[in-house]
Amino acid sequence: MEKEKDIAERLRTKMDNTALGRHHRVVQGDANEEVVRFCRQMDDFDRALVLLDPFATEVSWSTVQALADTRKCDVLILFPTMPIRRMLKRYDNPEDARFKDHFTRIYGDDSWRSLYQPRQQMSMFDDEPEYETERGAERLVSVYRDRLNQVFADSISQSLTNKNNSRLFEFIVAWGDPKGAGVGKRIASWIIQHEEPFRVYQGGRG
Ligand SMILES: C[S@@+](CC[C@H](N)C(=O)[O-])C[C@H]1O[C@@H](n2cnc3c(N)ncnc32)[C@H](O)[C@@H]1O
Repeated sequence: MEKEKDIAERLRTKMDNTALGRHHRVVQGDANEEVVRFCRQMDDFDRALVLLDPFATEVSWSTVQALADTRKCDVLILFPTMPIRRMLKRYDNPEDARFKDHFTRIYGDDSWRSLYQPRQQMSMFDDEPEYETERGAERLVSVYRDRLNQVFADSISQSLTNKNNSRLFEFIVAWGDPKGAGVGKRIASWIIQHEEPFRVYQGGRG
């Protein structure tokens, strides 16, 4: 699925020239709508492996939730750690946050508010923000992972960093069907354990 018409056309031409022949379809449209439509159309015995590969914060929680609700989709998500870190001011109040609507769209609820903790050192001035966010990105990823684990059977993830060790994206694999999650996680863990550095987070609704 691709939103931009010219990119979708180029992708279609490229796919037509691969060995996949006619066993593919490029859908031009907004993935946040098309994925939900795709989920609704899945039959009982359909299964899907879905890669969500945004530039930044384009993936809405409603899309992720629709995939989880099918219990028929395994999903690879590139979660935009660095773009979200940049959208969070170090000192702010959650209700004043410039990107609060974006955060609610990405996280699907108000859980992102816990990224703001009361300031360790209060400012001398009354009109200063009362909250601060962490310097790193640990929490903004773990809050999202907790959200995923409420709706998927299980998940695992690995941080993708730049040469300065700053976290750019979190590569997350989430399993919708509890029956496939166990073996899927073993395979994904093996791959991750042979790729350093990595970060494994346990959890899931089982
Ligand atoms: C990081 S690129 C994907 C690259 C692709 N996976 C590849 O390996 O070549 C992100 C793509 O998502 C498209 N895009 C952005 N927002 C979208 C949306 N809401 N629905 C569908 N496609 C979108 C952009 O036009 C861009 O081509």
